[in-house]
Amino acid sequence: MTDTASMHYLKDYRPWDFDLSETRMDVSIHESSVEVRTRLMLSRKADAGEKGPLFLHGEDLEILEISLDGRLLSPKEFLQDSRGLTLFDVPDAFSLFTRVRIFPDENTALEGLYRAGEMLCTQCEAEGFRKITFYPDRPDVMAPFRVRIEADKKRYPVLLSNGNPMERQDLDEGRHALVWEDPYPKPSYLFALVAGDLACLKDRFHTAEGLDVSLEIYTEHENADKCAHAMKSLKKAMHWDELVFGLSYDLSTYMIVATNDFNMGAMENKGLNIFNSRYVLAKPDTATDMDFEGIESVIAHEYFHNWTGNRVTVKNWFQLSLKEGLTVFRDQEFTSDMQSRSLKRIQDVRSLRARQFPEDAGPMAHPIRPEAYLEMNNFYTATVYDKGAEVIRMIHTIIGPESFRRGMDLYFKRHDGRAVTCEDFVAAMEDASGKDLSRFRLWYSQAGTPVLYASTELDKEKSILYLTLKQEVPDTPGQSGKKPMTLPVKTAFFTEKGEQAFLKFKGEKANAFLLVLESEEEIFAFEGASEGLVPSLLREFSAPVHLKTALGDKDLALLLAMDTDSFNRWEAGRILINRTLLGLMEDYREKRELHLPEALLAALGTVLENADRDPALAAEILSLPTEMELYHLLAAERIPVSPPEVHGVRNFLLDRIAFELKDLWERAFENFQTPGDYVFRPEDVARRKMKNLALFWLSRLPDTGFETVYRAWEKAHCMTDRMAALSLAVHFDDQRAEEMLDAFSRQFEKDALVMDKWFQVQALSRRPDTLKRVSELMAHPAFSMKNPNKVRALIGAFCSGNPFLFHQKDGSPYDFLARRVLELDSINPQVGSRMVSVFNPWKTFAEPWRSAMEKALKAIDSKKDLSPDIREVVGRALG
Ligand code: ARG
Ligand code: ZN
Repeated sequence: MTDTASMHYLKDYRPWDFDLSETRMDVSIHESSVEVRTRLMLSRKADAGEKGPLFLHGEDLEILEISLDGRLLSPKEFLQDSRGLTLFDVPDAFSLFTRVRIFPDENTALEGLYRAGEMLCTQCEAEGFRKITFYPDRPDVMAPFRVRIEADKKRYPVLLSNGNPMERQDLDEGRHALVWEDPYPKPSYLFALVAGDLACLKDRFHTAEGLDVSLEIYTEHENADKCAHAMKSLKKAMHWDELVFGLSYDLSTYMIVATNDFNMGAMENKGLNIFNSRYVLAKPDTATDMDFEGIESVIAHEYFHNWTGNRVTVKNWFQLSLKEGLTVFRDQEFTSDMQSRSLKRIQDVRSLRARQFPEDAGPMAHPIRPEAYLEMNNFYTATVYDKGAEVIRMIHTIIGPESFRRGMDLYFKRHDGRAVTCEDFVAAMEDASGKDLSRFRLWYSQAGTPVLYASTELDKEKSILYLTLKQEVPDTPGQSGKKPMTLPVKTAFFTEKGEQAFLKFKGEKANAFLLVLESEEEIFAFEGASEGLVPSLLREFSAPVHLKTALGDKDLALLLAMDTDSFNRWEAGRILINRTLLGLMEDYREKRELHLPEALLAALGTVLENADRDPALAAEILSLPTEMELYHLLAAERIPVSPPEVHGVRNFLLDRIAFELKDLWERAFENFQTPGDYVFRPEDVARRKMKNLALFWLSRLPDTGFETVYRAWEKAHCMTDRMAALSLAVHFDDQRAEEMLDAFSRQFEKDALVMDKWFQVQALSRRPDTLKRVSELMAHPAFSMKNPNKVRALIGAFCSGNPFLFHQKDGSPYDFLARRVLELDSINPQVGSRMVSVFNPWKTFAEPWRSAMEKALKAIDSKKDLSPDIREVVGRALG
């Protein structure tokens, strides 16, 4: 069908003219097609104005029958186009029956109903339901659903949909049927259906409200032994939400289905979550600590959506952050309570800077509540999710935890069962706290990362320390001349001895302060100050901004050693390292000799020597920024990115530090072994992290590097350690590295998730022939362009995780990516659009990379009939 996608604007939002009181579906699964019968009970709203036609969304649907109040309509009475179905003349109240045929086996976009291996499953958010049946596919139209599924009993013994299972029927010809009823009115994007031959892990949870819930995790039979961690995580999340927010589950079953074929992480369909199997399946032999962490947080995220997303949903897709920002905030808080708060904060900020800040500075920049989209799927972004969570966090900081909880209660009291807006959320917070959040609302409408400048001045005579805070909000595409925003800045001061100073601020003595900057510039006065106080600003990263201070290396070293906020200890280390790297890059450009600064070496050495005090924090401080992080650092400083320069300078620093601290790294490698069986618990995760970080540094030593890695490989007894060794071995030109890879793939060839790791480590190799290897691996039997996890593991990893080899002067890897994007355009536009986004920062690069990327983008752009997904990203990148 020809694509007629057009821009959608927030300002054009209008409620629908009809009410939908009930949705009944009958889904009949056949050999190579599925027949969907849908009955909708519709009535025109009293205030609908003139009696316009009825429009229902519907794409790629083969019409078999359309009837109105039991009367078969002739083709002259309706119009089908690429967007949907129009009925010109409908009564004020009627029942509409449609019967269509769809072809899930041909659905490679994995949106709507599609085949995933032996099972059939759905993904409807944002606008996939319209590929299943004609429907008002918009989140503000909610209805109770009754769904009957019919299929061959042998091939599809398990039939699932939302809500509660009702009667089961055995039918002729080996078929059976099951009816599901979901009493909670829901929008179509929360619909789900699964049919397959699946194993099920069951458990129970008794809610605080006294409901006995059956918890069920469905997987392919061979993965039945990998669901225990997901189940445990689910129960923790259910308990936590009752404890922290007073929110309980509301149906008698909670189901999770794991599939290998999934476009993103997971989906919160009411009572029937569907997950990318990488966020469900884990055991110590096949999953790393990071996988275990990811599962715990995504399981929680989807569970938390039952209240923030499902019970209260979004009025239109511009409000996506209402549910996503809030739910990310909730899952971050959960992980902070389960694991380590400061560590979680460091990791989240690192990812915010790696993904969201560049987005906010690039061609796709948009506010957390976007105002326009061509393809909604392109707006499931780091901005909507992660900056959205930062905005919720700032509300929490500004009004305080008790008011925040009252605001949540009020939000549910007002809006349970409704589709609402971001504004409704802020209003509840405002009403519950009594704080005026009018300026704060700019966070919802202004894009771009604010820059915050801080400087101090001491009036010695009066012992007053003046702290000046000043902000600038940068222009972004389509937005300029912005207003100053509300920035909560958590602050403390440290004496030269490292004591946290008590000062008088606004008449009160304290040693920690919440400053809220509401104007372009403000001076904050602290009484009782002595000389030499070092400010610790933006503690816990209390606002998502670029902070610029003039702190000297000595001050930073003090904070690195003494700050009581672990986040700012890490941050001080980061600034020191980044400053060093920027200086070295300048030396490199000016062709000066490179030197490792003693002060940095000493500071890192001290952290390493004391690592057993807090191994997790030490590991974070001692992990140097990636090349990609350095690209972002340069871009933020408006220095054109030259990949060989970054590569050369970073390697220089790595090799020097590895050499100078060799003894300490060796000791750490021995000291942080974790004897005994693998357990996923924070202490052990931290020890493994330190040990494997030490392995990384030791692998940089000439002569002994590979041997150390190889010995670690031989000793490894869990996937975390095995992957740590393998991911280092692949950089070496040593026959044993090939043998390791072979052994690994022989052992795990049947395990799709582990094979993803195998593809990924090879794509991340620093060996110069890596692109060739990646191209060859595309022909490997376990690889498929139709499987998003595989595309991400091999092509995604190479293009965004291996920047030095991806950014070659001759631009050949760019051509490689452009070709893959064009292939994906017809297979799976959503995945293609994520891949092409690698080119978004092209303007931040030096020549010749910049022009070569532009050329690749233009080559993609010149294809006719590009999917809206890719067209929108490429158009904005070039525009
Ligand atoms: N709502 C899901 C989640 O964050 C993600 C859905 C993503 N959908 C999409 N079309 N990209 O939990
Ligand atoms: Zn979500």
